[in-house]
Amino acid sequence: MEVILKIKETKKIIDEWKKQGLSIGLVPTMGCLHQGHLSLIEKAKNECDKVIVSIFVNPLQFGPNEDFSRYPRSLEKDLECCRNFGADLIFIPSLKELLPDENLVYVEVDLLGDNLCGSSRPGHFKGVCTIVAKLFNILTPDKAFFGEKDAQQLAIITRMVKDLNFNLEIIPCPIIREADGLAMSSRNVYLKKDERLAATIISKSLQEARKLLENGERDSLKIKSFLRESIKTKQIADIDYIEIVDLATLQFLDIIDRPVLIAVAVYFSKTRLIDNITYKEV
Ligand code: PAJ
Repeated sequence: MEVILKIKETKKIIDEWKKQGLSIGLVPTMGCLHQGHLSLIEKAKNECDKVIVSIFVNPLQFGPNEDFSRYPRSLEKDLECCRNFGADLIFIPSLKELLPDENLVYVEVDLLGDNLCGSSRPGHFKGVCTIVAKLFNILTPDKAFFGEKDAQQLAIITRMVKDLNFNLEIIPCPIIREADGLAMSSRNVYLKKDERLAATIISKSLQEARKLLENGERDSLKIKSFLRESIKTKQIADIDYIEIVDLATLQFLDIIDRPVLIAVAVYFSKTRLIDNITYKEV
């Protein structure tokens, strides 16, 4: 496994692979890898000849009062995980290497980035898309793997590839959860013991909401107020948003008459957790 910090050196290896006709899968991450990330690497291994994992904590996607400076980092462990999962190249650019100057040109997102996490985190998806576009241009993968855990990010990147004619395929990967249902996240390490226990209310409530849909409920307001009441049973849970949106356009829906994404964001102290389910059987 190659561990490379420089763009030029990485490109050389990729050129060599391309000459040999090998397909390349990319798994972009911010490190502090867990089973969720590793499931993406595993899928990439199954679908591509060579797998690149990028590790870069991207300052462009953090707001001024967010956790950029304290975002968890565990490089040694990450490298060991990547090695065990058979990744071929780990691209770990420094800040100076990937963002040498102040950025003056960005990828802007209309509409899809306005609600859900976009309204709680202004500029977040502009930062994500800009860095992911740079990674696509540098690493030129045939396929890039993204988790459904970040459903809005997945939808926006898929649309970016279409709208900006990137020559690659985005592969969605299912959410990986802890045994008690909590969606795995690098930020789960921030949770104190009582918060970690209480956080299971998010996935439990989403599963209950799914049952309401299976029993025929189609009123978004009713499902949202069910979710609100259910999550609020844990007093330390501070709801950021609970939304039901069209799975394709991410626009709000009153009546559930098409495939939907039910997405929630909940704070436990300063830690913001997101989770979602999709429901397509309408
Ligand atoms: P990061 O949060 O490190 O996540 C990297 C990838 O892992 C994303 O595609 C995310 O959706 C996926 N992932 C995280 N937790 C998951 C889980 N429990 N199950 C399945 N997949 C999961 O997302 C980012 O980094 C950044 O925004 C990035 C795309 C790297 C751009 O900076």
